[in-house]
Amino acid sequence: MKRFILFLLPLISTLSISAWSGDVSIETPGTMLIVHAREGGDLRIAYYGTRATTIQQLRDAGADLNSSALPAFGTVDMVQLPALQVLHSDGDLNLELTVDSYEVKADDAATVHIFTMHDKLQPVTIRLFYKAYTRVDIIETWTEIENAEKKPITLKRYDSGHLVVRQGDVWITHMHGNWAAETEPTTEPLTAGVKIIRNTDGARNAHLDAPEVMISLDGRPQENTGNVIGAALCWSGNFELRFNTVSHKEHHFYAGIDPQSTEYILDPKQTFETPRLALTFSSEGLSGASRNFHRWARTEGMLHRGMKTGDILLNSWEGLYFDIDEQRMIQMMDDISKFGGELFVMDDGWFGNKYPRKNDSSSLGDWVVDKNKLPNGLSALTTAARERGIKFGIWIEPENVNTKSELFEAHPEWALQVPGRELKLGRGGTQLVLDMTNPKVQDFVFKVVDNLLTQNPEIAYIKWDANASIQNFGSLYLPKDRQQNLYVDYHLGLLKTLKRIRAKYPDIIIQDCASGGGRANYGLLPYFDEFWTSDNTDALQRIYIQWGTSLFFPANAMACHINHCPYWNTGGRVIPIKFRCDVAMSGRLGIELQPKDMTNTERQQTSICFADYKQLRDVVQTGDIYRLISPYDRKGLSSLMYVGDSSRRAVLFVYKTDNYYDQPLPRIRLAGLNPDATYVLTEKNVSVGQRPCSLSGKRFTGRFLMEVGIEVPLREEYASRVFGIE
Ligand code: DGJ
Repeated sequence: MKRFILFLLPLISTLSISAWSGDVSIETPGTMLIVHAREGGDLRIAYYGTRATTIQQLRDAGADLNSSALPAFGTVDMVQLPALQVLHSDGDLNLELTVDSYEVKADDAATVHIFTMHDKLQPVTIRLFYKAYTRVDIIETWTEIENAEKKPITLKRYDSGHLVVRQGDVWITHMHGNWAAETEPTTEPLTAGVKIIRNTDGARNAHLDAPEVMISLDGRPQENTGNVIGAALCWSGNFELRFNTVSHKEHHFYAGIDPQSTEYILDPKQTFETPRLALTFSSEGLSGASRNFHRWARTEGMLHRGMKTGDILLNSWEGLYFDIDEQRMIQMMDDISKFGGELFVMDDGWFGNKYPRKNDSSSLGDWVVDKNKLPNGLSALTTAARERGIKFGIWIEPENVNTKSELFEAHPEWALQVPGRELKLGRGGTQLVLDMTNPKVQDFVFKVVDNLLTQNPEIAYIKWDANASIQNFGSLYLPKDRQQNLYVDYHLGLLKTLKRIRAKYPDIIIQDCASGGGRANYGLLPYFDEFWTSDNTDALQRIYIQWGTSLFFPANAMACHINHCPYWNTGGRVIPIKFRCDVAMSGRLGIELQPKDMTNTERQQTSICFADYKQLRDVVQTGDIYRLISPYDRKGLSSLMYVGDSSRRAVLFVYKTDNYYDQPLPRIRLAGLNPDATYVLTEKNVSVGQRPCSLSGKRFTGRFLMEVGIEVPLREEYASRVFGIE
């Protein structure tokens, strides 16, 4: 090895050059990943798991330490699939990687380990990064590929990371779904052969298949027991998660940008940085892995919101759809402030001059107030909000355009399109995606936000929507011989624009929305505060959707709104207001209906719900999740809880998901409490006109609650209970 460099800030001072000598232990508080560099050879991955070993112990225990950390085509044997393959400018397709330097960079939050490798023949440099967080059990891994050749090279495969999992009874849980039916966890054992999870929407990536997976190492996944590796690709574009099981010993896991839809051309002197793959390990089951992701999201700045809690809001969409006007906006603000809410969001329908936005077939791109609907402009609305003691928010969809718009008339070339081919039109029969690879479009999108906020400094919240896939695969900005970079360059352009917005507006709350939860991913969350979980607000279905979403995302990121009933999306289902409130209270609470149409009971219950939520929300939104009984297990009920304040406080949610005569319902055993402490249960959001149930006010030890459990009275259909536990 040529040189090993350690760059250390004073915070970490004990490492020395001799401390490495080929083996590196990459450590978080409870986990470690061990890699081993072979003299004159590539980097090997030896171990990822609990922090309880040394490489010598692994060797003594007979572990196989010989899997490449970043298998490259040309280096790996033929049974392993490559994580990396480059087509060099002379047609050579091989890489033989040799580690020739190692650096460590550390600060208070994390230690970054950087392994630099060179190909033996071609001037291509690969840097493999592992970033281990100091306070949370997450390790991020990614690569940089630097082209020092004289001509462009093609990245045929460029995974962000690779892991090796010893075979046994290994299962995976990945999220599958669709519009209004997001994040259904699909659980299956890993079997021989290759398993691929891929999304090729182009612009969004969390509908259909999502870029996260849990790998349970001890048989069928359990919520609170068993070893689990969690992996989230921090990217909003096309991706591929890949499992390869070929030998009798190991499963290989790879994650990265989908190479099938983008073989990326990298120009000379350019460096391509792959998206980060965030990894965790937990011996406390799926919930344990979720808690690690949630803590990382909150404490390490992956979410702008961090440990802050979100406001209780009313969003106008499901109450009015496009039918908004000043009077209705003010009426809605009146109502939300009377309920005790804190924010009003005016959704779609407020804009358009020559083509006013009456439905989804026009106006995207024309971000000026529709003077017929809002004669006194946005300032009348922000003033009305201020006068009612609430904040004001607004909806935009800045990356998209309708063909019926002034923007499209002025700049048809800004839309993605293929010359000579008929435009494939999306929502409303007229919707297209703008070309985010084009700096002029990036500038336009920046200005949509900038103009709104400079002209209306009282806007406190933006809902950023994205309702179209990339259907027209062509950019009039990218050169002909770079068209194949479009899927990736679109997202690089979007990220650049978001960074620019955040540099100027670090504090504005921005919701990430894409036809519901189509963009709930860690690629975008560093720039957003929360996401719209689903366009399906049916409370029964939301139990399932929110369950799956919580596997990777914390409650303060997950917008959960009380809907109106009968609800069209689920065939006119009518669910009592108490149940609707209880389900929405388990995330960032909001409401999405026309309050004018509510009954008195609904209004009263909503006010009780808001008041009680304010007492509980710090625990719900920033506490540790323990999922207790899965709705997918069909036990007749579902239950989850959040624990905060060093286990001094908790909130328990219990929902009856089924109803039939003489139904046996399981006792609920809690988790995450201090076994020796005594807790008092207090029922919250009690039904209007009813008294708290018999459990309310009772005292139990943490041990009793966790080992014996409680029987929660759930008699009627759609029964539910929320308990504050202190
Ligand atoms: C899709 C979003 O998911 C909805 O909440 C709403 O904002 C509509 N778009 C508006 O067109």
